[in-house]
Amino acid sequence: MKTYEIIKKKRDKLSLKPDEISEFVNGYVSGIVSDYQMSALLMAIYLNGMDDDETVSLTEVMANSGERINLDEFLNITVDKHSTGGVGDKTTLIVAPIVASLGCVVAKMSGRGLGFTGGTVDKLSSIPGYRLDLNKREFLDVVRKTNISVISQTDSLTPADKKIYALRDVTATVESIPLIASSVMSKKIATGSKSIVLDVKFGSGAFMKEKLSAEILAEKMIKIGKSFGRNIAAVLTNMDMPLGLAVGNNLEVIEAVKLLKGEKIPDLYDECVTLASVMLNLSKQIPLNKAKELVENSIQSGAAFKKFREWIVAQGGDISYIDNTNKFDVSKYRVEVLSENTGYISKMNTEQIGICASELGAGRKKYNDKVDLSAGIIIDKKTGDYVRQGDRLCTLYTNQSNNLSGVRNNYISALEFSVNKPILTPTIYKTIF
Ligand code: URA
Repeated sequence: MKTYEIIKKKRDKLSLKPDEISEFVNGYVSGIVSDYQMSALLMAIYLNGMDDDETVSLTEVMANSGERINLDEFLNITVDKHSTGGVGDKTTLIVAPIVASLGCVVAKMSGRGLGFTGGTVDKLSSIPGYRLDLNKREFLDVVRKTNISVISQTDSLTPADKKIYALRDVTATVESIPLIASSVMSKKIATGSKSIVLDVKFGSGAFMKEKLSAEILAEKMIKIGKSFGRNIAAVLTNMDMPLGLAVGNNLEVIEAVKLLKGEKIPDLYDECVTLASVMLNLSKQIPLNKAKELVENSIQSGAAFKKFREWIVAQGGDISYIDNTNKFDVSKYRVEVLSENTGYISKMNTEQIGICASELGAGRKKYNDKVDLSAGIIIDKKTGDYVRQGDRLCTLYTNQSNNLSGVRNNYISALEFSVNKPILTPTIYKTIF
């Protein structure tokens, strides 16, 4: 009866008490509350929202639903980073070794690709030998040795979120700010880092298309983090074009290596420097301008790349692939996409480009699909670039030949052209503390 009353209360726009949220969610995990009852509550939350206290309670219940990682031995210098998901977003591969080279501790659990966006776990799995499945003892040993470890989320982490997320996915209740905020933050709280930097993306290649929704989500997650005593900030970043030039798993690892070796890849370099600076600022209280100097120095001096190598070796990765990225598998089919227009590229539908990469094999359609680690896109021209008819826009990489012309057409239709040079919006919109 209580289950019914809780659904009714949220349906009638009333706030739920912490014990009601806890009873409902724990009941769902243990099977007392059914899928149809949880679906009804999720839809009521989707329609009527949750206030800050309710969102914090929901986060706490989900964070406590499984194992929690204790990082107390590393004192206050543990720092995590989370991206709300984008296309070509390989920033974890870059910022984690940068801040680890500067004395921060990064003990991180990452996710697989979701929808049209890529995931750090899939990118790392393209490095032969790299172990994403370290147990807790092995994970902490690597952190003690190198200041950095990145593994995939374990099944025992936030089981409530896992079960609820699967239901949200099929009940049209994903796009809810309190549900997204509590889902993301429950995982961040359970994995224990003292400082958290959120990369909250907006634009055509992000889940949040509107800047304002991204800002509201960021504020909500910051409030949750602070209520758990974490140092937290959000960098709001523009996803109206892919980040960097590579989209796809091993292609993105290769691009990350180039940047760590000092190549200033436009937009990707700026975003990584900003994220790493904020991570350093939060975890070591270093003023932002000084942090930026240290971060750039770590890249240019080779310290970040040295740390990256140490980390990959410590997790079993074959370092010869990092030292010679030509060793990575190259897809059987490579198709150059040539422009049919002359003019400036004025817009890129980045979600559509993410879907193109996924169609080539770089992402999954269904949860159990296998990812093609060498598939993806290398982009030549981005928004603001001038192209002539016949110029190469990008190269598609894939091991399957069936739908290549369809993907090519979809890539071309993802671009808009203009006669005049468009005004570019900066990659970094703002940082909220
Ligand atoms: N990522 C998450 O972890 N949870 C959501 O709800 C959405 C994106």
